[in-house]
Amino acid sequence: MKFLSLSMIMIFAFFCKNSQSNHVLRFSNGLNPISFDVSKDSALNPVSKKPMESSKDCASCHEQIYKNWEKSMHRQSFTNRIYQDSHKDEPLDWCLNCHAPLKQTSIVNHNSENNRYHAEEGVSCITCHVRNQKILTSKKMEGDSLAHTYDEVPVMKEGEFCGNCHQFNWPTRKSFIDPNSTIVYTNIPMQNTLGEYKLSKLKKTRNCQSCHLFPNSVKSHTFPGGHDKKYLEESFEVTLERISIDHFKLMIKTNGIAHAFPTGDLFRSMRIRILTPNEFLINEWILNKDFIPNKGNLNQPPKILVADTSFPPPDGTGETIKEFHFQYSNNGTEFKFEMYMDYLNPTSHIQGSVPISESLLLFKKGKLPIPPVSADKG
Ligand code: HEC
Ligand code: HEC
Ligand code: HEC
Ligand code: HEC
Ligand code: HEC
Repeated sequence: MKFLSLSMIMIFAFFCKNSQSNHVLRFSNGLNPISFDVSKDSALNPVSKKPMESSKDCASCHEQIYKNWEKSMHRQSFTNRIYQDSHKDEPLDWCLNCHAPLKQTSIVNHNSENNRYHAEEGVSCITCHVRNQKILTSKKMEGDSLAHTYDEVPVMKEGEFCGNCHQFNWPTRKSFIDPNSTIVYTNIPMQNTLGEYKLSKLKKTRNCQSCHLFPNSVKSHTFPGGHDKKYLEESFEVTLERISIDHFKLMIKTNGIAHAFPTGDLFRSMRIRILTPNEFLINEWILNKDFIPNKGNLNQPPKILVADTSFPPPDGTGETIKEFHFQYSNNGTEFKFEMYMDYLNPTSHIQGSVPISESLLLFKKGKLPIPPVSADKG
């Protein structure tokens, strides 16, 4: 009994900490926009004392962070063509709650879609750092003559902070087809990145921030992910084994991915190709999630998952290995391989106008020497 009540208190305290943080951040897991009143919420420039109304206003002092963020997918979360194209297909206000989350509450800005504040900045400095004229940070700096007034939001150093937008459930089918209905979530994950991360042993040593927010440099904010060729290239290792004279096994190992891959967006797939030295395609494998439409129950998601071939979250070694078998019988000394991100897996997303040059990224390729047939395998 004593133990029970203690753990109840601890659970309560944990929820309090998170809900206090969410209260300051005005996060609602995508159910609502983040209300932002320019006159009451903008923090003041430490020197000019003028309100800082856009991410550009942070650039004068945080130049490198600004440049890094400017190149990131967070900056492009509203403007990028793949998003714009798919939003045309499913024109729900709900999408904006994560892709252009700030909503003006005082001034009406007719230039901005549905009154979103600086939609073109997507997930901006202000989205993550500014409310109530204060700069949000996980731990206030100590000192008398600080540049900013701060508010302490401990969750900012946790994966839960990212999970506000990177972990959410499918809305009901009704939410999608009835334009007047409010968004109601089912209990089935639509993007499950935080949930996958919690299944990975890497969570003991790393978090979202350490791999995506501050990589390779102090204060990076480049948020490398599925559009970053270099980070993708480094995240996989490819080897080849010969099982018999004409039977081969291609092995792909993930290197430091602390969740499934592909993870978030449903239309994403990874393609692996094996080719002859003169680029004749021998085999292609597509790793993704496959769905069929739900045409019935309005309280269930509009799509039902039927197959998932993506890399699962890594086990104790921090790695996941997938094996791909193929047959090839001509003489030769090597194969070629190619790995692609396909942002619009064509089997589930046929409509749209994004050209193949923007929807397909070749991120890794190379040669694989063909091993001799070993005597014991005959
Ligand atoms: C005139 C210069 C200046 C401008 C403009 C400015 N900052 Fe800062 N910022 C600083 C300085 C200096 C520090 C170092 C800590 C301090 O003195 O408060 C800092 C620290 C920070 C920190 C880190 C706090 C910590 O705990 O490590 C954050 C976050 C931050 N700024 C965000 C912003 C954002 C967001 C904007 C734009 C809305 C912005 N800053 C605009 C000068 C500036
Ligand atoms: C997706 C959310 C997000 C966006 C967008 C974002 N930041 Fe941050 N930023 C964070 C988080 C989380 C931290 C770590 C907070 C902590 O642990 O206190 C951080 C840390 C910082 C720090 C402190 C770095 C240090 O010394 O440790 C500064 C300064 C900062 N951000 C400025 C900016 C500026 C300027 C922009 C826009 C160009 C920006 N941030 C955009 C989430 C974000
Ligand atoms: C141990 C490091 C590590 C941790 C921790 C980690 N990631 Fe990743 N993440 C990676 C790597 C490596 C990739 C694959 C390389 C790439 O996409 O450029 C990746 C890819 C991604 C992608 C792009 C996925 C896609 O399908 O294209 C997103 C989004 C992402 N991570 C978000 C998160 C979030 C949110 C968290 C925390 C819940 C997190 N990551 C935790 C290393 C990490
Ligand atoms: C306010 C919502 C929001 C928050 C908070 C947020 N993100 Fe994101 N993030 C997005 C959206 C929306 C995208 C998709 C951008 C696009 O490609 O259109 C994205 C994209 C990314 C990508 C690039 C994925 C790719 O495939 O290129 C990474 C990596 C990432 N986020 C990591 C993080 C991490 C780490 C945190 C926490 C420190 C975080 N995000 C917090 C909304 C958010
Ligand atoms: C709760 C937050 C949230 C909502 C609501 C949301 N998204 Fe996203 N979306 C994300 C995140 C986070 C990513 C990045 C995932 C990744 O990279 O794996 C993303 C990625 C995408 C991408 C991939 C973009 C790229 O650069 O490849 C598209 C397209 C997209 N979303 C469209 C939509 C549409 C259309 C809606 C509304 C029907 C929507 N999203 C609603 C959070 C959200």
